[in-house]
Amino acid sequence: MRFAVFLALGAGCAAAVPAHDVLSQTSLLKGKRKMNLLQEVPGLVPLPSAAKVAGLDTNNIQGDILVGMKKKQERFIFWTINDPARFKSTLRAFIVPQITSVQQLLSTTTQPLVALNVAFSQTGLQALNITDNLSDAAFSRGQFADANALGDPDPTKNGTAWVDAFRGTNIHGVFLLASDNATLLDAQEVVVNSSMGSAISVVYTLQGSIRPGPQAGHEAFGYLDGVSQPHVDGFGTAFPGQQTIDPGVILVGEQGDSLSAKRPAWTTDGSFLAFRQLKQLVPEWNKFIASSAPGVPGLTHAQSVALHGARLVGRWKSGAPVDLSPLVDNATLGADPTLNNNFDYTHQGFDLSSDQSHCPFASHVRKTRPRADLDAAPNSIIRAGIPYGPEVTDDELTSATSTLDRGLAFVSYQSQIAKGFRFIQASWANNEKFSFGKNDTTPGFDAVIGANRGGQRFMSGYDINDASKDLSLLTDFVVSKGGEYFFSPSISALRDFITAP
Ligand code: HEM
Repeated sequence: MRFAVFLALGAGCAAAVPAHDVLSQTSLLKGKRKMNLLQEVPGLVPLPSAAKVAGLDTNNIQGDILVGMKKKQERFIFWTINDPARFKSTLRAFIVPQITSVQQLLSTTTQPLVALNVAFSQTGLQALNITDNLSDAAFSRGQFADANALGDPDPTKNGTAWVDAFRGTNIHGVFLLASDNATLLDAQEVVVNSSMGSAISVVYTLQGSIRPGPQAGHEAFGYLDGVSQPHVDGFGTAFPGQQTIDPGVILVGEQGDSLSAKRPAWTTDGSFLAFRQLKQLVPEWNKFIASSAPGVPGLTHAQSVALHGARLVGRWKSGAPVDLSPLVDNATLGADPTLNNNFDYTHQGFDLSSDQSHCPFASHVRKTRPRADLDAAPNSIIRAGIPYGPEVTDDELTSATSTLDRGLAFVSYQSQIAKGFRFIQASWANNEKFSFGKNDTTPGFDAVIGANRGGQRFMSGYDINDASKDLSLLTDFVVSKGGEYFFSPSISALRDFITAP
């Protein structure tokens, strides 16, 4: 039945893929999944078993929201709607039945060959004549209008890095395709796009992949990523040091979403998705770390360099936190999720307001989750990004110059963008005065993502021997190529509201 619908919808499609090609791609997508679509990376909290998720309607929540960090491959397809009526009917008949839930992703036996999620921008909802106010000002304005607040250089000016498709409010939505294999992703892309035909125009596509071999799970600078995620109450059990948050911090309308009363009922169990394409200048970062590393008594030069990078990130490449292992990496600690999050920057005999001998105030992980530095309601996000771009080439390494585009396809989920991604980026990472109440009243910018609209940045506390010294962060090693804010509705909202006839 689905086949017949698909062929009818595929006829005359803008994607202009011949019907027999579409048929062959469709047949690739039949069959059962034998291997897990997600990668279990040592050091990351394992996913809860399907049985241990009481309390949340995991059949109704799009999968990427709670289990997005471990995908092997992902393709982001950004589009604009040309024909709202046809878009709606195709979404209803063809896409919505394939939307992958959290529950489906928890077990290989229920995973599809290609997971499919969808999210809409404010202008996308408007194109579908949905005029409800979702009570999220950043979402309503769109990310282009937010660039200045996020610390990006002005994207209206020529020569800035923002991808053209993200300049403005032209993007109406995104399909997120996840799998373990590019052929399957290609097939699903052809099938989805040709089913939509002229109803949409694809304006931008980005392919992400887990890095190869032992780098699996590590971001492009080489550090294990996704180690510290908040534990959403009702979704598995908390590991030591994991921050437990109410589901409403991530899911709209759930316990802990302070704007629940203002939200239209159909938004319950949806989440706002902040997408950012963050280019990483890896050879330049490597060169900078090597040339600015302070010598540390008792350590070789190579060990001092590794320590310097780790102190800027707040974790070693293995994932071990410098707060627990302040001088050398400890791979066993990094790989153990019962230990690698169990720290809060306090140490007996050390003053939390001045001690940077364990971890600098401005390191990336301390800025983005201050733990004991801040006694306040959590500003938490679930991160679901994936690296994009090729591995660094020998030529790039030798010249210490990036010639290829690589970095992080950053995705975060939160019930309020202003309290989640936007707050962490603008009020913490970019705020040279944060954390407050320290002996040094200007700890500086987040050493990894802190942004100053292209202007100079610095951090203090980088030198384990002398915390009073500042480090000039000579370049933005993470360059924003822009992005958009989306809303990822529940599956029932997609079926009963967004695409209701
Ligand atoms: C290319 C850009 C980025 C890189 C290379 C990067 C890298 C990392 C790494 C290596 C970690 C430590 C491992 C972990 O806990 O997952 C981490 C943690 C984290 N990052 Fe990023 N990140 C980037 C962008 C961002 C952005 C844009 C945000 C939010 C505005 C963010 C928020 C966080 C948070 C909340 C944590 C966890 C901190 C904790 O709970 O201890 N990151 N990141």
